[in-house]
Amino acid sequence: MHPSAALGRINPSPTLAITSRVLELKRAGVDVIGLGAGEPDFDTPDFVKEAAIQAIRDGKTKYTNVDGTIELKEAIAAKFARDNGLTYETSQITVNVGGKHTLFNAIVATVDAGDEVIVPAPYWVSYPDVVQFAGGTPVFVEAGPDQGYKLRPEQLEAAITPKTKWLILNSPSNPTGAAYSVAELKALGEVLERHPHVWIFADDMYEHIVYDGFEFATIAQVCPSLYERTLTVNGCSKAYAMTGWRIGYAGGAAWLIKAMAKLQSQSTSNPCSIAQAAAAAALNGPQDFLKGRAAAFQGRRDLVVSMLNQINGMTCPRPEGAFYVYPEFSGLIGKTTPTGKTIATDEDFVGYLLDDAKVAAVQGAAFGLSPAMRISYATSDDLLRQACERIQTACAALR
Ligand SMILES: Cc1ncc(COP(=O)(O)O)c(C=O)c1O
Repeated sequence: MHPSAALGRINPSPTLAITSRVLELKRAGVDVIGLGAGEPDFDTPDFVKEAAIQAIRDGKTKYTNVDGTIELKEAIAAKFARDNGLTYETSQITVNVGGKHTLFNAIVATVDAGDEVIVPAPYWVSYPDVVQFAGGTPVFVEAGPDQGYKLRPEQLEAAITPKTKWLILNSPSNPTGAAYSVAELKALGEVLERHPHVWIFADDMYEHIVYDGFEFATIAQVCPSLYERTLTVNGCSKAYAMTGWRIGYAGGAAWLIKAMAKLQSQSTSNPCSIAQAAAAAALNGPQDFLKGRAAAFQGRRDLVVSMLNQINGMTCPRPEGAFYVYPEFSGLIGKTTPTGKTIATDEDFVGYLLDDAKVAAVQGAAFGLSPAMRISYATSDDLLRQACERIQTACAALR
């Protein structure tokens, strides 16, 4: 018995690997600051927890409709109308076991061997692997710091072929925090209008975490002509600090939603019934606290961006959203550590930070654009300041 060929086409998630490494070090008593994990440090709101407890008391502990209860689908439809000006019937809505599962279902339900999926780089680590698992080919388009880590219309035009099935558009982005403005989305939309065979996977997971008054928009809203072939993807993980509850969802064409449900009916079945009740409460409940949380993240972003930009050889763009920064450090490549090791790659650099500065970040290579690293600043100001000081000291020691 051997692992399957499909399994051989994917890698374990590098970001989850860093998180377990940090836990291991902490258990061994090492004073390590983990900036690798992609989850808010805030707690799930109390009103959401209460709704889950009530759901248990009410006996909502059985199988539900495969791709979500009608109550949750209605809450999601109301959310899409309220936040995004998008109208979806409940037959156009799917609920899955986290946003990652939404991605998996959409890609595995539609991608055949040889199909291409355009993935702007740097990208969230799961996009290429899920495409490869399905037998498709990720087509990477590099969008570096010189272009604000955002795909340009002419790059999109050049990447589209007759085999293109999907464009993956993630805004605000994991790992860079870059977010597309209305005008930028419209410009990409004009290209997509010329290529009606290309579908759009709009990953809006970080919608509510935007800064400096940035106005979040999603492509189906900005380009109504693309509505029919856009899957608008979102979830409770990041906005409501519900990463452990595992609820992701999407709105899109009814046939696609049905195809995803068919796959889900033979894999996970319904997402946890209690988590679904909690998600409905989150979406139907007060939303005002989201702004306060985003404001806290903005202060942390400013702290981290300014401290990292004090480092010679490192440039840290100021992102529009999410809770990540993606500094590039070509100026540090080729330098030598105090123990005589050469920093040849960003993997070497984050290895040096972990060993020497006891700070865990994720190498840019994991996200398809080097030399850089992703830092998650979803942790306290105090820890962030300490971490950045440690990084500054470690960088100053390079020769
Ligand atoms: C861009 C993006 N999309 C989707 C997800 C999936 O989130 P989850 O599966 O935890 O709901 C994540 C999580 O890291 C993400 O960063």
